Amino acid sequence: MRELVIAVEKISKTYGSGESAVTAIKEATFEIYSGETVALLGPSGSGKTTLITMIGCITEPTTGKLTLNGNLMYEGGWKVNDTRQIRREKIGFIFQTHNLIPFLNVLENVTLIPQMNGIKKSEADQKAKDLLDYLGVGDKITKFPSHLSGGQSQRVAIARSLANNPKIILADEPTAALDADRALSVMQLLKKLSIEQKVAIVVVTHDERMLPLFDRILRVEDGYVQEIIQQHTAEYSQK
Ligand SMILES: Nc1ncnc2c1ncn2[C@@H]1O[C@H](COP(=O)(O)OP(=O)(O)OP(=O)(O)O)[C@@H](O)[C@H]1O
Ligand SMILES: [Mg+2]
Repeated sequence: MRELVIAVEKISKTYGSGESAVTAIKEATFEIYSGETVALLGPSGSGKTTLITMIGCITEPTTGKLTLNGNLMYEGGWKVNDTRQIRREKIGFIFQTHNLIPFLNVLENVTLIPQMNGIKKSEADQKAKDLLDYLGVGDKITKFPSHLSGGQSQRVAIARSLANNPKIILADEPTAALDADRALSVMQLLKKLSIEQKVAIVVVTHDERMLPLFDRILRVEDGYVQEIIQQHTAEYSQK
C-alpha cells in the first residue's frame, strides 16, 4: 500500500526582510507517496533548491506546514528537537556538488552516517561496497575525494545517500556532473529503488530527457509550484 511520505501545505520561504526580501517559494502545496519519483523542474532562480532543502529540514520555512512520514516537522517553527538527526536517519541527500568529506576516503564517506546511526562496521562496509560497485566506483574505496573526477565523486555521493536505506531521497541536480549515459543509468537506478524499496524520490532536474522516467512533474516558476501532466504523445515516445 502506498503511504503518504511528504506532505507540504502552503509552505512559503522569504529570504531577508524589508525592501530586500525575496519570496523564493509561495504557498506550495503537494503530497508525495512512497514509491513515487517526482521531478522538480524550473528555470534558474525559480526556487527549486529552496523547496527541496525545506523538505529536507535544512532550510527553515517562513510559513506553512511540513509533515514527513506522518510526523509534523514544521508548523510556525521546527517541531523536532534536532533536525540533523531527522536528516541522518530518514533522508538521503544528493547535492549538486558532492559535499564529500575531504579527509575521509570513499568507503569512510559512505559508511559514516550508517555508523553514526549505530550500524555495525562490517555490515556498513559490505553495504557500501555493494553500492559503490553498483555505481561503477567499487575500485575507488581507498581513494580520497580530491583524487576522483567530478562524475566519480557524484557517484560516491549517491552511494552515500543510499547507504542508510532512507525512505526519502532528495536530489538537487544529481546527474549534472555525469555524461548522458551515466546520468540516465543513475536515474534508472533511483527509479528502481523507488519501486523496489518504496522510497519517495524528489529530483531537481533541468534534463528534459529524464522526464519520462518520473511518475510526476512539479513545475516551479517564480516561486509557484504546480503539477504538470506529462503528455506521452506518439511523437515523444518515438524519440
Ligand atoms: N540564502 C539566500 N539568501 C537570500 N536569497 C536567496 C538565498 N537562497 C536563494 N535565494 C534566492 O531565492 C530565489 C530562489 O533560489 P533557489 O536557489 O531556490 O533557486 P533554484 O531554482 O534552485 O535555482 P538554480 O536552478 O539556479 O539552482 C532566488 O531569487 C535566489 O536569489
Ligand atoms: Mg538550485
